[in-house]
Order: sequence, then C-alpha cells, then structure tokens
Amino acid sequence: MDDKKPAEDRDLVEPVEGEKYFHYYPQLVAVIGVMHNGKTNFAPCAWSTGLSYNPFLFGVSVGKDRFTHGVLTESDAFTVNFLDFHHFRLVRSLGRSSGAEIDKAKEFNVSYAMGKKAAAPVMDAAYYALECRKQEAHCFGDHTLFVGAVVLMHVSRSLAQAPILNTELVSPLLYLGVDHYITTDKASRACLKDLPFHYKRDKRR
Ligand SMILES: Cc1cc2nc3c(=O)[nH]c(=O)nc-3n(C[C@H](O)[C@H](O)[C@H](O)COP(=O)(O)O)c2cc1C
Repeated sequence: MDDKKPAEDRDLVEPVEGEKYFHYYPQLVAVIGVMHNGKTNFAPCAWSTGLSYNPFLFGVSVGKDRFTHGVLTESDAFTVNFLDFHHFRLVRSLGRSSGAEIDKAKEFNVSYAMGKKAAAPVMDAAYYALECRKQEAHCFGDHTLFVGAVVLMHVSRSLAQAPILNTELVSPLLYLGVDHYITTDKASRACLKDLPFHYKRDKRR
C-alpha cells in the first residue's frame, strides 16, 4: 500500500448508527474470567487496555447485553487471560456462546484454577494472566468499562525475566473483527532502545 495517500484516494465515511467498524483493528484478545454463584464464565474481549502503571489498573469494556456484564456488575473480581494465537478456535467458541445458556468451561474443556487473590478463574493456557479486584465501572454508550486493580500476575516462567513479550516464544492472539484472527510477524520486530530521546528535559523512561 502507498504510504502517502492523497485525499482523493480516501472515502469520507460518516459512522452510521448501529453499524460496527473494524478498520482500527487488530486488537489484542484477552479472555475475561469471572465467577458467579459458584459458576465460572469466560468471554473474549478485544477492548481491553492498561489504564495506569501506578497503581496498575486494567480495564475491560463489556457490552451491556453480555452475560459477563451482569456478572461483572455484581462481582468484585475478574481475571484477564492472554492466550497464544494457536488458541483461536477456543476463543471463537467462547466468544460465540453465552454463559447464560451453557457452562463454557465444561463445554469447551477450559482448564483453570481459581485466583489466589481474586475470586475469579485463571486459565491454565494463558501465557499471562491478571487477577483484578474491581475498582470502578463507567458506562460508555452500549458498553461498560470495568476497571480492575491488578493484585496478582501469572507470568509464564519462560517469559518472566524479560520486561516485554518474547515474540519468539509467544504469538499473541490478535482479532481483526468479524471472526478473523491474526498474529504478529516475528520478522517485523524492530528495537530502537539505543536511540537517544528527543525530550528537552532529562527523562529516562
Ligand atoms: C475475539 C472476540 C473479541 C470480543 N471482544 C469483545 C469486547 O471487547 N467486548 C465485548 O463486550 N464483547 C466482545 N466480544 C463478544 C463476547 O465475547 C461475546 O458476546 C460472548 O458471547 C459473551 O459471552 P457471555 O454472554 O458469556 O458474556 C468478543 C468476541 C470475540 C470472539
């Protein structure tokens, strides 16, 4: 694709109410784990994000019509589970079924253990998982952003020593929208950490 796009090469599109748009994807997929009345549930979430380093806050945006939304509204804990690309079929199944109708863990053979500090399930398959205590919930249109304080992290031992994800060991699961999945291209990785910063004031990180 050409880098420089003249205005005439672009369509101007006003968002239409009720339509969904995915050109800003791919988004990293995280699977939200919850526990309610002794029953677990898992729902994939493309709209998740870190929100603060200190304290470490993490947010998941959940549609108001999801079963998980009701559970998160009532419970005070959740987990966020990051999976390798090869789990895309499982994620598809979890994201195209509802905990209101089935026990997803049983139906799709999801193995998990309960969190040590938060009462929510941690997926065994996750290369990285966050145990969160719910702090806040803010409504944005048809979704609610549930914000959790991260109280414990489960980090795959082979990854734990490095500060960033080792993409030689893990291929993160990315979502393109409309049931399409993709992952990172290892050859495209670039490291610029030895270049000087451009700040005027001394600022190391
Ligand atoms: C890859 C993927 C990403 C998704 N991302 C979100 C999301 O960010 N927020 C959301 O509310 N639903 C998202 N969904 C849809 C829910 O996972 C889906 O509605 C699921 O059936 C909800 O399960 P529940 O009814 O048990 O809560 C996503 C689905 C898939 C497959």
